[in-house]
Amino acid sequence: MDEAVPVRFTQDAEWWRSAVIYQVYVRSFADGDDDGIGDLRGVRERLPYLAELGVDALWFNPWYPSPFADGGYDIVDYRSIHPWFGSLEDAEALIAEARELSIRTIIDVVPNHISDQHPWFQEALAAGPGAPARERFWFHPGKGEDGATIPTRWVSSFQGSTWTRTTTAEGTPGEWYLHLFTPEQPDLNWNHPDVRREHEEILRFWFDRGVAGVRIDSAALLVKDPELLEVGESADGSHPIQDRDELHDIYRSWRSVADGYPEPRVLVGEIWLDDVDRFAAYLRPDELHTAFNFDFMTRPYLAASLRESIDRTLRAHAPVSAPSTWVLSNHDVTRPVTRYGREKSGFAFLDKRFGTPTDLALGTRRARAMSLVVAALPGCLYIYQGDELGLPEVEDLPLERIEDPMHYRSGGVDPGRDGCRVPLPWSGGLPPYGFSELAEPWLPQPDDWGSRTVAAQASDPHSMLALYRRTLAARRSSDALRHGDFAWLTGFSADVLAFRRGDDMVCILNMGETPVPLPAGDVVIASGPLSDDLLPRDTAVWLQTASAPVDAENQG
Ligand code: NOJ
Repeated sequence: MDEAVPVRFTQDAEWWRSAVIYQVYVRSFADGDDDGIGDLRGVRERLPYLAELGVDALWFNPWYPSPFADGGYDIVDYRSIHPWFGSLEDAEALIAEARELSIRTIIDVVPNHISDQHPWFQEALAAGPGAPARERFWFHPGKGEDGATIPTRWVSSFQGSTWTRTTTAEGTPGEWYLHLFTPEQPDLNWNHPDVRREHEEILRFWFDRGVAGVRIDSAALLVKDPELLEVGESADGSHPIQDRDELHDIYRSWRSVADGYPEPRVLVGEIWLDDVDRFAAYLRPDELHTAFNFDFMTRPYLAASLRESIDRTLRAHAPVSAPSTWVLSNHDVTRPVTRYGREKSGFAFLDKRFGTPTDLALGTRRARAMSLVVAALPGCLYIYQGDELGLPEVEDLPLERIEDPMHYRSGGVDPGRDGCRVPLPWSGGLPPYGFSELAEPWLPQPDDWGSRTVAAQASDPHSMLALYRRTLAARRSSDALRHGDFAWLTGFSADVLAFRRGDDMVCILNMGETPVPLPAGDVVIASGPLSDDLLPRDTAVWLQTASAPVDAENQG
């Protein structure tokens, strides 16, 4: 595939440094066969929409065969496509058609765990204690005489224990196995050569089919301490299940697989770590290319906090020469227009509760402004499907329709993540809004989304979609925004975020109450109305101006 590159397709091997990447949650994007579930045919039909939006690449959430115990992050076969979504041929056609439109494809790989229905795990269960097939996982006897006590008290990312007890062939309680997420997602043992070999082969399988890169799920969790110490027990301060040093060897090896292609493939890590220097260590030149900037994504809508996050992000990335990424949301977190309208506008999984109030008009103004900020920051930009339509979190899904294990494992107090996974509205005034033809979508859509459809927004110059289209077009045509240096501007109050890219592109967001006088310059784009050269509250603007003074001491 590398030889037959279309003329318009950028052959720049460093495209990922400033790319705009659109996240497709296939199940909820567009339903091409009218069964209420989004699919690859649906995506293929909507590729012109994505090209017009102006994105450089698509990242697909897992599209593999899976029982969907965790939204497809429980994979049964890494080399094929879930029948809901289509076939391998459909995926190949999609990759090629996207490429014709100058759009690259990134897929999700999930190396930390597999489905409990995967043949390896089924084989391990059948084989019994001590069998080699169990060594690909973390099977362990329980503590105490009867083995009834869990091997460690590690806490699952989805709450509760990380161990589930098996039943022996005789029907008695057996060994326990480790799962950092649900019991349907047993963790793989990355000390086992089969596990390492298999995953490198999976990478090659997809890279050979023209996939431009992979998003690596739970990338900092793969390796565990074989001593099974409790958190905080190790003498060297290392964590038993997170960010272990051995991970770096794995990613160096993956990098050599990725670099073996004429157009090197790209590795993107899902890495949640508070320590930015440890985070940046994964982005050394022979490891991953980029990783999601969750620090920024989870910050509240406060100038000091966002400024601090931008500073620490840029400082941490500089020594490893990796680009930062900027993300407002994804399929795991509350939609920005809902989150930024809340009193507590930061994001934390454990804080999610039913009935938390929000002001959607305020949240929408802020999300519009933040979309200009992230598109102006240096590095790579991720957009989660539906954010370009300003979709709110759906907070009143009927309880019996919620599928997310985060909801169930919280005992029902956490609404879970389905509220940001509701099928997209494309056209029309009523559900299914062109998502399906007639079929009822797998999750119900709100009745009041008629004004949020793609069709309604495409003809409204003030819509969120129109703003996104203009913003991405302006970014694409600006060298300063794609490649220019970053510097904070001086002379603004503490509740204003103001920075310059390159010699003459300036982004200013007023988060304070008082309107801010704009420096002289040409307005390229604004997130809301301006009044007499004043920037109102919760409004951002891009200005072309060479005259705004920068803070030479503090260039990020
Ligand atoms: C991170 C994914 O984004 C999330 O959706 C999933 O539940 C966990 N990893 C487990 O795979």
